[in-house]
Amino acid sequence: MEIAVFSSRSYDRSFLEAANAKGGNRHHLQFLEATLTLQTVSLAAGSDAICCFVNDSLDRPVVEALSRLGVRLIALRSAGFNHVDLQAAESAGIRVARVPAYSPEAIAEHTLALILCLNRKIHRAYVRVREGNFALDGLLGFNLCARTVGIVGTGKIGAALSKILSGFGCRVVAHDPVPNPSLADMGVEYLPLDDLLGAADIISLHCPLTPDTHHMIDKAALGRVRNGVMLINTSRGAVIDTRAVIEGLKSGKIGSLGLDVYEEEGDLFFRDLSGQMLQDDVFARLLTFPNVLITGHQGFFTQEALEAIADVTIENASSFETCGRAAYPVGTERLA
Ligand code: NAI
Repeated sequence: MEIAVFSSRSYDRSFLEAANAKGGNRHHLQFLEATLTLQTVSLAAGSDAICCFVNDSLDRPVVEALSRLGVRLIALRSAGFNHVDLQAAESAGIRVARVPAYSPEAIAEHTLALILCLNRKIHRAYVRVREGNFALDGLLGFNLCARTVGIVGTGKIGAALSKILSGFGCRVVAHDPVPNPSLADMGVEYLPLDDLLGAADIISLHCPLTPDTHHMIDKAALGRVRNGVMLINTSRGAVIDTRAVIEGLKSGKIGSLGLDVYEEEGDLFFRDLSGQMLQDDVFARLLTFPNVLITGHQGFFTQEALEAIADVTIENASSFETCGRAAYPVGTERLA
């Protein structure tokens, strides 16, 4: 198949080419640096399939334009599919496939990195030591052992993080409309969201972005958290209301914030903007806090995860070509 790979970077190219080679170079991959938008969709002309990442736009106008160009498969290089208008794709007869579980440990371990770094102020210590400042004032942390961690969403990533944190001796409490029975054996306790918010020293978000979870952490939710709580979001930016969180940081209600995702990350992440003026004032405000640590959506960025993403993406394309159905189609979920 002819596959146009949008938002591709050097690492996408090398992992996808390797995966394609394993299958005998069955597909022709056209690597495009451009993000998919209504302005760039014409680059998909002549392709049977497109391959997209989290900040490509797959709203109704783009999906309809893809249909007019003859595209029949959207192969996502992600687990999340909140950026796809599934109804539009279904009406247009375009299949949507994703990579449901490429490496939950990759994101869980990155979440742990954010927790440990923020708690022990490693980001500040690194800079101090390089400048010859060995004072410890301001670097005080707390033991993770025996602390309560609230995990919102105990699917694959939330479960992997629960296991890691249990190993640290944490009390893990969780909230999920579909509890994960395997976690009960580990002593994970399911609570209503409000109770979790009130009980946790650290809150970590691992639910998908849906209409239900949009701005789940807003002003009202922050009114229920413990003073000085650590909030971590590696799921999707819009699960938290960033402006409310900034107010929480200013008042001290939030003691520290770790983000791998941001509501408006589509205009920022996955490219080098270091020579440009930052236009996003909300993001700029976040960067002023010493107790905020932001990474640019790199939770998935491990060797193992990229290899799995590429393998499943090629498998999705191959099964679609063979039997008209991708190996891992997005189900009938409705998010719009
Ligand atoms: P999953 O589908 O295995 O688990 C999601 C869990 O969230 C499910 O158990 C579901 O019942 C639960 N959930 C749904 N609505 C909820 C609600 N209102 N409150 C609490 N829980 C709710 O998904 P997985 O693989 O664990 O990924 C979770 C999310 O992580 C993805 O949707 C994606 O947004 C994000 N992600 C981030 C990555 C990164 O690089 N930072 C990489 C991969 C995923």
